[in-house]
Amino acid sequence: MEAFFVSTAIVAIAEIGDDFGIEQIRVLATIAEANDIEISSGCLFGDCGTCLTKILEGDVKYTHPTMVKPENGSCLPCSCVPVSDIVLKA
Ligand code: FES
Repeated sequence: MEAFFVSTAIVAIAEIGDDFGIEQIRVLATIAEANDIEISSGCLFGDCGTCLTKILEGDVKYTHPTMVKPENGSCLPCSCVPVSDIVLKA
């Protein structure tokens, strides 16, 4: 396990896709994968809990309602985006 830091400034830049003006939502799992950080995954839609990851610092918001409801201090990286700089234990 290692700490994985995501800066919201970096995420904001990454969210601008190849087509100028079109923003793409990048969930934490996608950001981690792009940075060679391995997070276990299954459904990729918040229904199985396989990707449940501890949040060491920061906050997230969910892109859709999920079946699994993480406790405070944890998140489902397949289904959330950072709303602040964030450190995950991944
Ligand atoms: S991969 Fe299933 S909840 Fe994230």
